[in-house]
Amino acid sequence: MSSKEFTINLAAELLRHPPVEKPVGWAVVGCGVIGPLHAAGVAKGPFTRLVACCDIVAERAENLARQHGAKAYTSLEQVLDDPEVEAVSICTPSGMHPEMTIRALRAGKHVLTEKPMAIHLEDADAMIRTAEETGGQLAVIFQRRTQPVFRTIKAAMEEKVLGKPVLGDAYMKYYRSPEYYRSADWRGTWQWDGGGALMNQGIHIIDMLQWLMGPVESVYAHAGTLVREIEVEDTAVAVLKFRNGAFGVIEGTTSVYPGVDHRIELHGEKGTIRVDGERIVEWRVEGPDGKPVSRLEGTTGEAGSPSPTSDPRAISADGHWIQIQDLALAIRDGRPPLVPGREGRPALEIILGIYESSRTGREVYLGR
Ligand SMILES: NC(=O)c1ccc[n+]([C@@H]2O[C@H](COP(=O)([O-])OP(=O)(O)OC[C@H]3O[C@@H](n4cnc5c(N)ncnc54)[C@H](O)[C@@H]3O)[C@@H](O)[C@H]2O)c1
Repeated sequence: MSSKEFTINLAAELLRHPPVEKPVGWAVVGCGVIGPLHAAGVAKGPFTRLVACCDIVAERAENLARQHGAKAYTSLEQVLDDPEVEAVSICTPSGMHPEMTIRALRAGKHVLTEKPMAIHLEDADAMIRTAEETGGQLAVIFQRRTQPVFRTIKAAMEEKVLGKPVLGDAYMKYYRSPEYYRSADWRGTWQWDGGGALMNQGIHIIDMLQWLMGPVESVYAHAGTLVREIEVEDTAVAVLKFRNGAFGVIEGTTSVYPGVDHRIELHGEKGTIRVDGERIVEWRVEGPDGKPVSRLEGTTGEAGSPSPTSDPRAISADGHWIQIQDLALAIRDGRPPLVPGREGRPALEIILGIYESSRTGREVYLGR
C-alpha cells in the first residue's frame, strides 16, 4: 500500500462524503463514563441521528437523553424493539459486550462496541460469526487508529521505511487510584473487566503496537497485582516475538504514581520511530550516504491532546466521532468499517496469551 492511498486525515475525508439521504438512527447503551462520548459523536452527525440512550440506571439514561433530545430506555430489549434504531453503541462493562452485541445483530441492528470487544476469544469469534451470518456491521472502538499521527506511522511502516524490523516496544505506565476501582463494582474483576492494566487500559497501545509492527507470534510474561486491592493484574511485563522475526516488550501498569505518557518504540535495521503519548519524538532513517535523515517535520502529532495517563475521563472525543461517522457511511455505502470485528481480536489474543503465560510459566504461541 502506498501512503498516497492510505487516508491520513480521516476527519477531512469523512466530511468530503456527500450527505446521506437518511442519517443512521442510533442508540447508546450504557451511559456511564464513555457512553456520553458516543452520544455526543452521534448527535454531532452529519451521517447519524441519536434516537435513544439506554442504561439500567434510569437517571443516567434520562439525563443523557435530555441533553440530546433523544428517548430514554432502561433495557436493551426496548432499544432493539425500536424500529428507528439502526445501529447501537455498546458502552456497558466489558464482559457484557458479547451477549449484547449478538442480541443486537440478531435483531437486525448494526453494532459499534467499545473495547475490549470481548474478554474471551470464543466470544469475540461468536460476535464476528454472528455479524457474518446476519449481514450486520460490527465495528470495534480503537480510537487511536484514527489519529493522523499514528496513521502517518502506519503508512510508513507499510512502506517498510525502517527496513528489516528488529524491535517493537510498548510501555503503558499509568496511574489509577483506589477510588477509580471503587467507582463501579465491575472494575478490576475477572468476570466483567476481564483483566486489569492490560485488558482495560493497555489494550489501545497493544493494539497499536501490533497494528504497526504486524502480528505477534508468541509471548512470555509475568502479570501480578502489586499494589491495588483488585482481582486482576495491576502490572504486567511480556517479551514478544513478532511473526516477521522482530522481538519486543510490553510493560503495563496502573499502579505507578503519577503515571507517565505511554510510549511506542519501533526499530529496524534502517531506522527508528519513537512516540511519546501522541507525539513523535524521534523519526530517523538511514539516508543514501549512510547519515541519519530526520522525518519529524509535520508529523509531531496533535499537540495538547488530552491524555488518559492518570485521568480516565481525559479522552479526546475526535476518535469516537470519526469511528461513529465511519460506521454510518460503511452501513450506507455497504463497505467494511475502519475497525471491523476481526480487527478487535489480535490485541485481545495477545493479552489473553500474556495472562496464560504468566499463569503457566510458559511461552505462549498465538493463532493456534
Ligand atoms: N475507548 C475508550 O477510551 C474507553 C474509555 C472508557 C471506557 N471504555 C470502555 O467502555 C465500557 C464502559 O466503561 P465505562 O468506564 O463507561 O463504565 P461505567 O461503569 O462508567 O458505565 C457503564 C454503564 O453501563 C450501565 N449498564 C450496566 N449494565 C447494563 C445493562 N444491562 N443495560 C444497560 N446499561 C447497563 C451502567 O449502569 C453504567 O452506567 C468498558 O468496556 C470500557 O472498557 C472505553
